[in-house]
Amino acid sequence: MATGELPETHRALVQRVYAQPLQVETLPTPQPTPGSAVVKVLVANVIGYMKNIYNGARKYSYPTPLVAGTSAIGRVAAVGEDAVSLKPGQLVFFDCTIRGRDDPGAIILSGIADGSSEPSRKLMRDAWRDSTYAEYARAPLENCFPLNEALLCGSPSDGVGLGYDIARISYIAALLVPYGGLRDIRVEPGETVIVAPATGGFGGAAVLVALAMGARVIAMGRNTDVLAKLAGLSSTRVKTVKITGNQEEEVAALQRFGGPADAYFDISPREAQGATYFKSAILSLRHAGRVSYMGGFLEDVPIPLRLLMRKDIKLHGKWMYSPDDVRSLVKMVEIGLLDLSESRGLVTVMGEFPLERWEEAFDMAAKNAAVGQIALIRP
Ligand SMILES: NC(=O)c1ccc[n+]([C@@H]2O[C@H](COP(=O)([O-])OP(=O)(O)OC[C@H]3O[C@@H](n4cnc5c(N)ncnc54)[C@H](OP(=O)(O)O)[C@@H]3O)[C@@H](O)[C@H]2O)c1
Repeated sequence: MATGELPETHRALVQRVYAQPLQVETLPTPQPTPGSAVVKVLVANVIGYMKNIYNGARKYSYPTPLVAGTSAIGRVAAVGEDAVSLKPGQLVFFDCTIRGRDDPGAIILSGIADGSSEPSRKLMRDAWRDSTYAEYARAPLENCFPLNEALLCGSPSDGVGLGYDIARISYIAALLVPYGGLRDIRVEPGETVIVAPATGGFGGAAVLVALAMGARVIAMGRNTDVLAKLAGLSSTRVKTVKITGNQEEEVAALQRFGGPADAYFDISPREAQGATYFKSAILSLRHAGRVSYMGGFLEDVPIPLRLLMRKDIKLHGKWMYSPDDVRSLVKMVEIGLLDLSESRGLVTVMGEFPLERWEEAFDMAAKNAAVGQIALIRP
């Protein structure tokens, strides 16, 4: 085992009983084991609906007690003896999507969801229960993605670095979700992708990612202020369509931009169950168009099956993204293709909170869930 200096104890945000308030506790510092690294957490993401995960409102399934958290940026503090590349001190993105090594279909989200199968529940319960709202977190080696610190944080005046601070880099976690779906349906440069709804956290991120992939975007949403902000990203490559609740109107509006779209990326929240835009977007696809469904509807939705059959439409579900997607997106950020800079004005760090102020962090994330806005826990 290669260790830096690991203290005997560390502070962590713990939930002892499901849906009960979190509390900061002093715990033994996690130790590296074969196949794992211990990461010193610098900043950990807060999702817009984190509060409703931990108060039980979303009914996410996970074991307790656990250390709360999700994806994070950190430095490797110690590695298991089988690590051949990761070194103490290295800056890494810790990806919350953990897979069973002997069953990649067993997937959990660190700190928040134990998946929907007995193997995935076992994976979280027995091995990866504790997450990143802590000074240190143990992570599978394969979930620690090295970041090129010179490129990301180096000074632009040297002609090499992008000059990002660590907090800004954490937006990778939001970008990855839509990248998983958009890459899964093989969005190509020059294609037109409908994103709906585009005005929320992951929907806005989808617009940025689709643009970086070379696509043109038709952003659908109810909030005209946010739609105007998205339209400001590119006068030629972002078009907007208001979700009105009238399917005929929405389909007509979607078709104003030079014919049927190539693909539709859906990131609906559960609250949008029954909304019209889902079908409007499918009806607006070309022959052999593709749909990436990453949304969170709890109930089944009507799908125009006859049209799917006649038009060879492909409907793909996607939960999160692959390790290869992470490596690919990190490169896009490192070379500035996905521009997170302050001057671009898209990514705004709304607040960074110590563990004790977790409730403020959750509230800040909930109130500021639009494109590019991030709230963080800084343990
Ligand atoms: N598949 C995956 O791997 C994955 C990963 C992460 C999240 N998700 C899913 O993604 C969903 C969205 O997450 P988020 O963080 O982007 O949520 P969010 O920031 O709360 O955004 C929700 C969006 O939905 C819109 N909306 C809400 N109710 C609507 C309605 N009745 N009709 C039309 N639009 C409506 C909101 O528009 P307004 O601005 O008009 O309110 C907003 O644009 C989550 O609920 C989760 O289920 C999936």
